[in-house]
Amino acid sequence: MKVLVTGGMGYIGSHTCLALLNAGFEPIIYDNLTNSTTGVLQQLCRISNRKLTFVEGDIRDTDLLRQVMAQHGCEAVIHFAALKAVGESTEHPRRYYDNNVAGSLSLLSAMEDCGIRSIVFSSSATVYGDPDYIPIDESHPIRATNPYGWTKVMIEQVLKDTCAAQHEWQAISLRYFNPVGAHESGLLGENPLGTPNNLMPFIAQVAVRQRDKLQVFGGDYPTPDGTGIRDYIHVMDLAVGHVRALQTKMGHTGFFAYNLGTGQGYSVLEMIHSFAKESGQTIPYVVSPRRNGDIPCSYADPTLAQQALKWRAERNLPQMTADVWRWQSNYPSGI
Ligand code: NAD
Ligand code: WQD
Repeated sequence: MKVLVTGGMGYIGSHTCLALLNAGFEPIIYDNLTNSTTGVLQQLCRISNRKLTFVEGDIRDTDLLRQVMAQHGCEAVIHFAALKAVGESTEHPRRYYDNNVAGSLSLLSAMEDCGIRSIVFSSSATVYGDPDYIPIDESHPIRATNPYGWTKVMIEQVLKDTCAAQHEWQAISLRYFNPVGAHESGLLGENPLGTPNNLMPFIAQVAVRQRDKLQVFGGDYPTPDGTGIRDYIHVMDLAVGHVRALQTKMGHTGFFAYNLGTGQGYSVLEMIHSFAKESGQTIPYVVSPRRNGDIPCSYADPTLAQQALKWRAERNLPQMTADVWRWQSNYPSGI
């Protein structure tokens, strides 16, 4: 079965393409390369020993999407394509609403025209905002604290309403917690263009001496060591979650949302110590003021995904950090 993978050259999309191939699906990658490079395609072909289809295009280009879906006979879509920098979204909100929300509307129109009614959507734990309780389950109220987060809330609403209006549609929204890790080959991983916004790629760049030191944002949170706690999940576990969503929910119409997390939280200091241990490197850091908009603690209740998708995260923190280190030391400047 052919699956259109928007944003398939990006971090999570590229790893998911490998999981799709492993499970016998054929990904058709569609990406405008705003936050990725064609080097990713070469690595995907090298790891899988397959020739993959890649089309350079924007999800706001509905005509091109239609053409690609029809030409390849795609039967489902996994929709990763989005801008994802929280800070940038507060400075350029309309850029985010246009790319993420208008882009998703364009994608849904193209799907409708081509008779495709199945979509798996990259959502985020950001749709829970500053959580009322932890662990966070899917019934937690939905809200956002920044324009990026609102784009995820809005797209989920569009998907829900579409499924309510047209009963043949199925939409599965996967709410990721904090994706980290790299493919175990060491040939593919997170490849941020510019300064990383997220913790793990920053630590990895400090470990290879691309950066002097890490700033730990906040040492005075109400957590055991004073630093923020998150639910870090290995990107290959996340990738498999998408495959399970396609396999288990195919044919079930309606809107479904699932948390993809481990259910276990780690602090920033625990992440630093784990990385130092697995890499054998020192990670210089300085405790700085809290970052605007950060929450003290977030981790998932992953029970629903375990039940409905027959999926659970299998890789632990040492594997996450060891895999990032293998990737980062192979490609210190990315690909
Ligand atoms: P990424 O930036 O590595 O990948 C996104 C890809 O989409 C990039 O290759 C980019 O070039 C492409 N893209 C962006 N806008 C596009 C457009 N208009 N048309 C075509 N392609 C476009 O990001 P990622 O970390 O792989 O994230 C994938 C998805 O998961 C995103 O929707 C993101 O919001 C969501 N998500 C990510 C995280 C995270 O921490 N990485 C957490 C939760 C949710
Ligand atoms: C993790 C922890 C920071 C960087 C963001 C988005 C969220 C989602 C995932 C897409 C926090 C601390 C970080 C650094 C630090 N993205 N930190 N120094 O903030 O949980 O989530 O990415 O949907 O929407 O908000 O992830 O990796 O940025 O931060 O101390 O240089 O690391 O304060 O406690 P976050 P993160």
